[in-house]
Amino acid sequence: MMRLGPKAPPSGKGTGSLTDAPKDLLKETRHLEELFTIDTPKLKEITHHFVNELTKGLSVEGGSIPMNPTWVMSRPTGHETGTFLALDMGGTNLRVCQVTLTEQKSEFDIIQSKYRLPEELKTGVAEELWGYIADCLQQFIETHHGDASKMGKHPLGFTFSYPATQNYIDEGILQRWTKGFDIAGVEGRNVVPMFEAALKQRGVPIKLTALINDTTGTLVASAYTDPKMMIGCIFGTGCNAAYMEDCGSIPKLAHLNLPPDTPMGINCEWGAFDNEGKVLPRTPYDAAIDKDSPRPGQQAFEKMIAGLYLGEIFRLIMVDLHDNSDAHLFAGQDISKLRKPYSLDSSFLSAIEEDTLEDLSETLDLFQTKLNISPSRAELGLIRRAAELIGTRAARLSACGVAAISIKKGYQSCHVGADGSVFNKYPHFKARGAQALRQILDWPDKADPKEEDPIEILAAEDGSGVGAALIAALTLRRVKDGNMHGILHPENFK
Ligand code: BGC
Repeated sequence: MMRLGPKAPPSGKGTGSLTDAPKDLLKETRHLEELFTIDTPKLKEITHHFVNELTKGLSVEGGSIPMNPTWVMSRPTGHETGTFLALDMGGTNLRVCQVTLTEQKSEFDIIQSKYRLPEELKTGVAEELWGYIADCLQQFIETHHGDASKMGKHPLGFTFSYPATQNYIDEGILQRWTKGFDIAGVEGRNVVPMFEAALKQRGVPIKLTALINDTTGTLVASAYTDPKMMIGCIFGTGCNAAYMEDCGSIPKLAHLNLPPDTPMGINCEWGAFDNEGKVLPRTPYDAAIDKDSPRPGQQAFEKMIAGLYLGEIFRLIMVDLHDNSDAHLFAGQDISKLRKPYSLDSSFLSAIEEDTLEDLSETLDLFQTKLNISPSRAELGLIRRAAELIGTRAARLSACGVAAISIKKGYQSCHVGADGSVFNKYPHFKARGAQALRQILDWPDKADPKEEDPIEILAAEDGSGVGAALIAALTLRRVKDGNMHGILHPENFK
């Protein structure tokens, strides 16, 4: 069978029999391949534009990628110490941790509790969201420390993983909600006082010392144990990256007169790359996702890559091929379950790609149990190919972002710390991303397959727990040393 574009890494069996598929199904499969395959020249074009957009985001005029300074002004040495609370408000879960950075270099102890973030809170009322988070924190403190009201104030690193303007490390003005959140009255405002008000109401003794993005946390946590770590990435419900820039290359901070070689953590918010639609080869399915999202026109790159959207892209394809194509996918079957928006998450696609059986019978089971649909053998072939195409496109586009930061910073060789459900659980994501990076950066083939790539994307340390604690520690340290840049409430650092 001829495939368009680069050869996919081995992904089990099952697609071979597509050649026996009815003509219309084959035609639709070819069409999907054309829509979703991104060849190497296109990857290079996207990367080139990405590099320019990173620079533009740092300029006074700005661009579509926010490139938010984070006031993380150094890398960890491995010798940081102390006990910190960390709160992670992710896209799916809420996690509270107590992290102790021990005297032993690069070592830490952690205790943590995880809470599901109820779906209705994501599109509900702000006070309820802050109230819920404060309740979880209170419960955690009471479980581990007894009566919260009798204690001194704990320093807290708050991982708030949404684009936020930070004029100070202890401030975060929400630029816009992402990842399907839509809570009125928060965008354009500093979330810290809102959160603190909920804590005060409950008498929870916390002083917020740093508001952190998950990518910055990932970078710092990974750099704590690995000095080669230069970029932190999240490929999960959302996607994004952070790296350290020199203040001299950040014109939008020029008015602060910081020494040009001072390091500054930048939360890129690269999910917003190409919002203006210049280079990304968007399909009609991507356009449909955007149109029906709470923030149309925003997070163009993220909507092609992140876990929140992968299953939805697949679902839209399936419905379209049932309703509108000559292939009449699932003809005569009731597809009402499939019609429900966001009913398939990326784990559904993972399961399809993980089906190693020749007849794709695991995929058949999945469709029967989850959707009440029984695809034919040929339809199963198309299903598998569609999942591969969506997953491969996500991995290849992700590599453009990593390549762009590396080119901008002149990194020839480094480590990239990555976390998130797609990176950790989606089959072949790492291998496909690594292959794309090799193609973009024109690396020669490896002599030995075990050899490291010049730029290697590795599983990261826990960014929102250990990373948040480290950033709180680094900030306390620099304040003690007299660096008061980007500190709104110095009293919280005593
Ligand atoms: C957010 C980022 C975050 C990323 C990964 C995106 O939707 O805007 O702040 O880092 O998701 O969680």
